[in-house]
Amino acid sequence: MYETVLFKNIADPRVRAIDRYAELGGYRAAEMVVKERTPAEVIETTKATGLRGRGGAGFPTGLKWSFVPKDTGKPTYLCCNADESEPGTCKDRVIMERDPHQLIEGIIIASFAVDCHLAFIYIRGEFWYAYRVLEKALGEARAKGFLGKKIFGSNFDLDIVLHSGAGAYICGEETGLIESLEGKRGHPRQKPPFPAVQGLYGCPTVVNNVETLANLPHIFNRGAEWFKSIGSNPKNTGPKLYCMSGHLNKPAVVERELGIPLPELIYDICGGIPGGKKLKGVIPGGSSVPILTADEIDVRMDFDSLAAKGTLLGSAGCMVLDETVCMVRFAMRTARFYAEETCGQCSQCREGTWWMEQVLHRIEHGHGKMSDLDMILDMCSNMKGVTICVLSDACAMPVEAMINKFRAEFEYHITNKTCMVGAHAHA
Ligand SMILES: Cc1cc2nc3c(=O)[nH]c(=O)nc-3n(C[C@H](O)[C@H](O)[C@H](O)COP(=O)(O)O)c2cc1C
Repeated sequence: MYETVLFKNIADPRVRAIDRYAELGGYRAAEMVVKERTPAEVIETTKATGLRGRGGAGFPTGLKWSFVPKDTGKPTYLCCNADESEPGTCKDRVIMERDPHQLIEGIIIASFAVDCHLAFIYIRGEFWYAYRVLEKALGEARAKGFLGKKIFGSNFDLDIVLHSGAGAYICGEETGLIESLEGKRGHPRQKPPFPAVQGLYGCPTVVNNVETLANLPHIFNRGAEWFKSIGSNPKNTGPKLYCMSGHLNKPAVVERELGIPLPELIYDICGGIPGGKKLKGVIPGGSSVPILTADEIDVRMDFDSLAAKGTLLGSAGCMVLDETVCMVRFAMRTARFYAEETCGQCSQCREGTWWMEQVLHRIEHGHGKMSDLDMILDMCSNMKGVTICVLSDACAMPVEAMINKFRAEFEYHITNKTCMVGAHAHA
């Protein structure tokens, strides 16, 4: 039986208030950490948990913190990435709207670990409700002395600035986020130097996802061994939020261990496919990852198991598609998103995403040529691993997989100028 951790208190509307959060044991971990631990100890404990970033790349959190140089004479900043813009992803929002102090407590612990005295929450522009909830929660934490000078009566000072984005997907990429925070266009930076060394205002900066940070209070209340006991293996540990959407009887953001078998999520927890329809495919990690066909879903939802199947856990935005979905239209719509969101700095991305959408559009509307398919695959290979950030790859990877795995459907569209799954889908 899975014991809920991150979502334990989200059904209690009173937990948004600091007194209720504290009554349930909140802020104990942060107070203990800032009064009784050293930053090095906090980093070591976090490393020992095996916690990997929940923002998409799965980079080990403690290791990332350990890259921050010490005694540079510059401040260190922590940026909480609350941009949550990957299609299919809606988990960070639940934490922020329902249990904001869990996130604030996590930010305090992470800030202490990297000696940061001013942290930022960069929140997606459309999340105005979560913004208001967080703004109130931050005010409560300041009033209690949990933020500000000498927090909890310790020698540690910390404040948190809440900053709203303006609706750009690219500002979720960590260096785009940093540029945007500095008041510039969200253009990702060339790496190295990595943000840990040269980030916000040229200073050492850690960027961590909301869900990653929300794990920290639990880790420091219950210990690394407890955290490691959850998950599918020592490299994939802890609780995980899965955003289950699409053709499901009970779509939901679900919390389970990292590495739960995908069929269990789809059929046991989310009630399977509505109307007795057949499963066509699953996109396990947000729109930027390769699709799994119905025959490939026997996999654990963790970083390494999905990588072994040629896809990614990404943001765990798991989209379930039934047999009525037209793969050509889906590919076109995916490419359109990236074409709209490219920042335009790199030609492979600026031109590639746009061109890919055009070619898919003409196939979808009955004007495609058979040679278009190999041309798209060629474009895909020229869009991967060659740009400043991976938005270009994020467009190429899913489209490439859709053509490779559902090629007959694309060919049918080209030959018959209509759709295999029923032309009504194009109305
Ligand atoms: C185009 C693009 C968009 C991204 N959007 C987000 C996002 O909305 N939220 C997020 O946490 N990470 C996002 N990331 C990943 C961040 O760059 C970064 O890896 C992450 O915030 C690090 O946090 P973590 O180590 O806790 O996972 C995005 C990456 C790319 C390339």
